[in-house]
Amino acid sequence: MQTNKTNEQFGYFDDANYEYVITTPYTPTPWINYLGNDGFYGLISNTAGGYCFDRDPKFRRLTRYRYNSVPLDNGGRYFYIRDENDFWSATGRPVNTELDEYSCRHGMGYSRFNASKNGIATQVTSFIPLDTKAEVHSLVVTNNNDTEKTVDVFSFIEWCLWNAEDDGANFQRNLSTGEVEVEDSTIYHKTEYRERRNHYAFYSVNRELDGYDTNRESFLGQYRGFDRPQVVENGQSTNSFARGWSPIASQHLKLKLAPGESQSLEFVLGYIEVEVEDKWESKNVLNKTPAKALAARFDTHEKVNDELKKLNDYWHNLLTKFSVDTPDDKFNRAINIWNQYQNMVTFNLSRSASFYESGIGRGMGFRDSNQDTIGFAHMVPDKVKERILDLSATQKPDGSAYHQYQPLTKKGNANIGGNFNDDPMWMVLSTTNYIKETGDFSILDEMVIYDDQEEATHDHFDHLVRAFNHVVNNLGPHGLPLIGRADWNDCLNLNCFSENPNESYQTTQRGASDVAESVMIAGQFVLYGQEFVDLCLELGKFELAASCLAHVDTMRSTIEQHAWDGEWYLRAYDSRGEKVGSNENEEGKIFIESQGFCAMAGVGLDNGKVKQALDSVEKHLSTDFGIMLNQPAFSSYNKYLGEITSYPPGYKENAGIFCHNNPWITISEAMIGRGEKAYEYYSKITPAYLQDVQTLHKTEPYVYSQMVAGNDSANPGEAKNSWLTGTAAWNYYAATQYILGIRPVYSGLEIDPCILPSWDKVNVKREFRGAQYDIELRNPNGLSKGQIELNIDGQSVEGSIINATTYSGQHTVVATLV
Ligand code: BGC
Ligand code: NOJ
Repeated sequence: MQTNKTNEQFGYFDDANYEYVITTPYTPTPWINYLGNDGFYGLISNTAGGYCFDRDPKFRRLTRYRYNSVPLDNGGRYFYIRDENDFWSATGRPVNTELDEYSCRHGMGYSRFNASKNGIATQVTSFIPLDTKAEVHSLVVTNNNDTEKTVDVFSFIEWCLWNAEDDGANFQRNLSTGEVEVEDSTIYHKTEYRERRNHYAFYSVNRELDGYDTNRESFLGQYRGFDRPQVVENGQSTNSFARGWSPIASQHLKLKLAPGESQSLEFVLGYIEVEVEDKWESKNVLNKTPAKALAARFDTHEKVNDELKKLNDYWHNLLTKFSVDTPDDKFNRAINIWNQYQNMVTFNLSRSASFYESGIGRGMGFRDSNQDTIGFAHMVPDKVKERILDLSATQKPDGSAYHQYQPLTKKGNANIGGNFNDDPMWMVLSTTNYIKETGDFSILDEMVIYDDQEEATHDHFDHLVRAFNHVVNNLGPHGLPLIGRADWNDCLNLNCFSENPNESYQTTQRGASDVAESVMIAGQFVLYGQEFVDLCLELGKFELAASCLAHVDTMRSTIEQHAWDGEWYLRAYDSRGEKVGSNENEEGKIFIESQGFCAMAGVGLDNGKVKQALDSVEKHLSTDFGIMLNQPAFSSYNKYLGEITSYPPGYKENAGIFCHNNPWITISEAMIGRGEKAYEYYSKITPAYLQDVQTLHKTEPYVYSQMVAGNDSANPGEAKNSWLTGTAAWNYYAATQYILGIRPVYSGLEIDPCILPSWDKVNVKREFRGAQYDIELRNPNGLSKGQIELNIDGQSVEGSIINATTYSGQHTVVATLV
């Protein structure tokens, strides 16, 4: 692996350490990282902005963050450093004092900030240790001067009053509820603990304090921002005590540093839950025993380093289950490090909390979470199984599904409800992908409740049958699937007809006899319906397979008959029976989703329709920055189409490059053997390739963004909504299973690449069902796709599948493309 220091603008990749190094606090948008793996999470920007929460970012938020604030990125874990002359931030902001040195290294589950000023160097390392409900912030201060220095350190965090929505809205109450306790060097946050809460938070440091503040106004001073707190300016804490208003935690530590001396401070921001009967130590004094035990796990620099090492090992282990070495460094970097890392973040958070998803609106999405699993089934199969079964339990008896569930309760979210008719079939994708990865068919036998049940009476397989039948039972006038509220495209609201700005497009559906039909769901049904048929055949359920196949075949011909527009597939029929995504339309003549799904499903593969649809995508939708969702963009609002026409042209679902769906085209191109096209579409949206245009691209160069502005926008190429996007899982899936073509199938690992002809050799390391394969893919004739000659441990093997039952342990595979 290499380090790419060329084209450095705001930072560079340090691949050997699995890090991205940011070299300025003033990136075009806050460039963030995620901390935490198992229920307790933090979002942390390149200047330590962000917040942390336990499981649910709405109901259990520990620290306060101000979304869309002025200036941007306000609220975080701040360390103010003060010498005799000056003060600054150890993490680059919020104090804007220019530093002599600054860097932020975002790594796997940790971020490290280096700063120096006036010969005082600091390093803050922030992470959430494995299996721990706490952020650890380890601060090392070094005096590089040749005289002794006294340095004041002021820590700062601001408590969120737990319910993030209430915290930002219900001020008549919450300015009176804040409560804290202070004991030794720890500040305890216990708002609402006197009543129904059995949880509190604390901020501790492993050294005696020279003062503290717990009241925000006392620390900042009136009408001052985080950039110049009064206390820091004065150099002395006020020992303030918060009673209501806005409680904070700030510790003041005076360090005397000899020349060359370093001292370290270990801060712990922890979350504690206690049994109701153990809440109190004495009247109104909270039980601090568990907090002290938690803080004690990190009360020396050695202990903290040991935990950091465990975290590094954990990630190393996860990331080396699949790694690749192609002639293309950027491809390698994306696959080996950042794409897999982002996949895990989408596993943990679905679409709930990012710097663009405020953590109060959306739970875990049914559609999104099922799709996300294709990005990490090889890394955390057990967690995938659990996730799929959690999702399954939010399915309704008729096979439809709650669109979202809340992570704390794992119950379907009634505010959003269901009727997004693409939802059910995604569970066929997640389940079959999981079984192909693991060989574990037992997931199908797990008993899972339907949402309205107390006790499970049916197994997960039955849930898949009902998912399949939900499509069959909800067909429209042309025999195509009814769209319901929306399909994958949340903004194609064909049954909403909204003229009221106070109404939600997502939850409004009018009329009992909605007839709008979706060609995307039709393609999805053929693709995953066929998967379901194959699964039934694997299980020896031949009758069921045959009857399902009949439905799938019917859908294939229905698409060819009613959903082929001449040069591409239609997108839908609206509530009036009018075509959407047709050459006959003035705007929105062609859409990407139905091309992707019908092509992946191979509808019309043998009569040229797939190729023609893909050629139309290239002709009408492809840009320098990826493939646009539709063209021409909608220029005015159309209530029959809904939210899609509410966006200005070129943004979001209205002709933006909505990256999530681009891999569907990449996969389709790979399926028909066009390796150069597949690579082109893959790389156009992969951030590792966008280093040179960061000022335009704006979002983090190490993770996918949901949307890149399209050609109709004011700024084509400008990205938005980084991190929580299905693009991560899908582009990973496209690259590994269709470009590299290392594809789990029921019997083993199939090798069926579609690569750049110029790639003469590719090496892949792949853990699979307990065996380790060292695969060398040879391409002596400069092909994209072809027959595979397989040789395992020196023996030539028939076919292109490594049979999983034959192998365990370590094996060397040579696959030659001929
Ligand atoms: C966005 C969609 C999103 C939906 C659901 C819409 O405003 O454009 O991308 O899926 O909201 O939250
Ligand atoms: C983002 C949503 O999370 C996802 O569910 C949806 O498919 C896309 N937007 C497209 O609308």
